[in-house]
Amino acid sequence: MDLADAGHGPGRLAARGVSVGYGDRTVIDGLDVTIPSGVVTAIIGPNGCGKSTLLRTLARLLRPSTGTVVLDGEDIGSLKTREVARKLGLLPQAPVAPEGLTVADLVARGRHPHQSWLRQWSSDDAAVVARALAMTGVSDLADRPVDALSGGQRQRVWISMTLAQGTDLLLLDEPTTYLDLAHAIDVLDLVDDLHEAGRTVVMVLHDLNLAARYSDHLVVMRAGAILAQGHPRDVITAELLRDAFGLRARVIPDPVGDRPLIVPIGRTHVVAPSDRDGNSGQDQR
Ligand SMILES: Nc1ncnc2c1ncn2[C@@H]1O[C@H](COP(=O)(O)OP(=O)(O)OP(=O)(O)O)[C@@H](O)[C@H]1O
Ligand SMILES: [Mg+2]
Repeated sequence: MDLADAGHGPGRLAARGVSVGYGDRTVIDGLDVTIPSGVVTAIIGPNGCGKSTLLRTLARLLRPSTGTVVLDGEDIGSLKTREVARKLGLLPQAPVAPEGLTVADLVARGRHPHQSWLRQWSSDDAAVVARALAMTGVSDLADRPVDALSGGQRQRVWISMTLAQGTDLLLLDEPTTYLDLAHAIDVLDLVDDLHEAGRTVVMVLHDLNLAARYSDHLVVMRAGAILAQGHPRDVITAELLRDAFGLRARVIPDPVGDRPLIVPIGRTHVVAPSDRDGNSGQDQR
């Protein structure tokens, strides 16, 4: 089915026949994916299956050995770094701030792609930064050094920096890591608000129930390939969870909302990162 037929806007960002890896090792081989515009896409899959590699490739931080990433109809490899940064913001999985840098200074760095020696820091930039700090609930931390914060505070500061970039395409790699459940829901509600405001969000999540609740398009990866994609209601089945994660689970209707709810039971087998058939792991039951 065409994504536009599913009520999604046409994709502004897509991978076409992309192979990418590290050194001689190919992690993703000939992958095609279109990120539908104006909706929230969640990427799920076991550890090491290539989710971050895919996100970094979509953000042009990794160059594919074959294939292309297309952003607004152009090969992303042909665009300047600054052009990409004005269109697309990436929250990496484990970002590290320079030692001693304050929260306000880090978030202000999100405005760099909008500046040049002709167009320097302005009151507009200051307003965008203040809003980004407030949206993620970190205004009170503005003068603190980033490296002196808790993991959850730091995570929200990085999200704030990504928001300050002001792009309408956001790629978030595990935005809820380190967050307690209430703060995780806060961040996902913020993602929902961004979506309501017309932004396109792609996020990697490990919590499958939150992924099912907060996304309209779910991409399931295993061993560097896409196993399934579509609306969470159509994608999440007990069989899919077994194939993707080696997980035995019941799938029941979520009593809150109209999404599937996963109740894990146990492992069927260990899915190795290179296990494309999902059956070479050890049987544990
Ligand atoms: N910088 C790197 N150099 C070499 N190999 C890497 C590098 N980063 C990732 N890999 C390897 O590429 C494969 C995919 O890694 P990736 O980080 O994309 O997985 P992931 O799905 O994001 O996993 P996780 O859920 O643990 O974050 C893994 O086998 C990993 O060891
Ligand atoms: Mg990752």
